[in-house]
Amino acid sequence: MSVQIAPISDSLSQFLGQNAYSKIAVLVDEHTNKLCFPLIESLLPKGSIKIQIKSGEEHKTIATCEKVWAALTRANMDRHGLLINLGGGVIGDLGGFCASTYKRGIDFIQIPTTLLAQVDASVGGKLGIDFHGLKNHIGVFQLPKTVLIDPTFIHSLPARQQRSGFAEIIKHCLIRDGHMWERISHLSFEETDLAELIAHSVAIKQAVVAEDPKEKGLRKILNFGHTLGHAIETYLMDQGKRKILHGEAIACGMIMEAFLSYERGLIGLRDLESIETYLFETYGRVILKEDEIPAILKLTAQDKKNKGSEIRFSLLTGLGDCGYDIPVSSSEMKKAIHYYMN
Ligand SMILES: NC(=O)c1ccc[n+]([C@@H]2O[C@H](COP(=O)([O-])OP(=O)(O)OC[C@H]3O[C@@H](n4cnc5c(N)ncnc54)[C@H](O)[C@@H]3O)[C@@H](O)[C@H]2O)c1
Ligand SMILES: [Zn+2]
Repeated sequence: MSVQIAPISDSLSQFLGQNAYSKIAVLVDEHTNKLCFPLIESLLPKGSIKIQIKSGEEHKTIATCEKVWAALTRANMDRHGLLINLGGGVIGDLGGFCASTYKRGIDFIQIPTTLLAQVDASVGGKLGIDFHGLKNHIGVFQLPKTVLIDPTFIHSLPARQQRSGFAEIIKHCLIRDGHMWERISHLSFEETDLAELIAHSVAIKQAVVAEDPKEKGLRKILNFGHTLGHAIETYLMDQGKRKILHGEAIACGMIMEAFLSYERGLIGLRDLESIETYLFETYGRVILKEDEIPAILKLTAQDKKNKGSEIRFSLLTGLGDCGYDIPVSSSEMKKAIHYYMN
């Protein structure tokens, strides 16, 4: 899959110059409309249309898809059209899903504008929406024509959102590059060179996805931190209790799952301590209550990596290495949550 890291004025004009489309639609939310669309507007051919949806995970639903499909229909978009998804992971996942299903599929490209979307969501072809409180429950695998990454989009992103995306960069280092982990673990988030790390993360994600596009095996390592992390994110989202960003939930999950890796003898105590210290320093601690644990454990049963009733984890097998399909019992998970809480 083609991914380009370059100024958007260069990469988008080049792409549009090389491909002829009957019509172009750009999907934005109110933030990317205001902060990102002006950077590409002048590059679009006349007659292009803009479709704006409301920002936020709570709008990553089938109801929003209906609005997008309706707007494409109103604009007489035919099968030779292009949808440009200009935004974070929500726009990319939902827009890609809408494009892949509209008239059985039209071309789309991703222009990720959050750090999380640049280093993770836009690469790899996983598309979809949330359903009945379950994250990414309905979706497809479909690759975009290209992914155009311009790190300058991140400048307008609130600091908390930037830090959330940084969790996926940490994850990529932990599962695939111990040297880079060693380097960043001595730097605070503010001290890191984001442009360099974006390119590094994208290369890791691309390499893993290329080896296993449909997540039959190796790709599962990208889910490190996500089995418990997703369950916590879903639980807190569903209850409308505490607002927590994806990366913040994954940071919790990575501490818990690093603990499970340690418990299984896959990493040493020092490794666990270095991961935990760095993640607590960068993300703080999410307050979880004892009586919330059963509901969180129940949600891990929805994880897409599971087979039958077994809950399967991707666990670190070293700093820079990760295994997958490792069954973990609910009492072990409970112990990991307790470890995080205390
Ligand atoms: N497909 C995948 O492989 C994959 C991987 C990881 C995450 N995801 C999905 O990604 C989503 C999270 O993505 P996200 O963190 O990008 O969230 P998001 O798309 O909700 O964006 C976060 C917020 O930032 C705003 N925003 C976007 N770009 C901006 C910019 N340049 N300046 C200022 N504000 C900007 C958005 O309007 C939104 O309010 C989740 O739905 C998750 O499931 C998908
Ligand atoms: Zn993630």
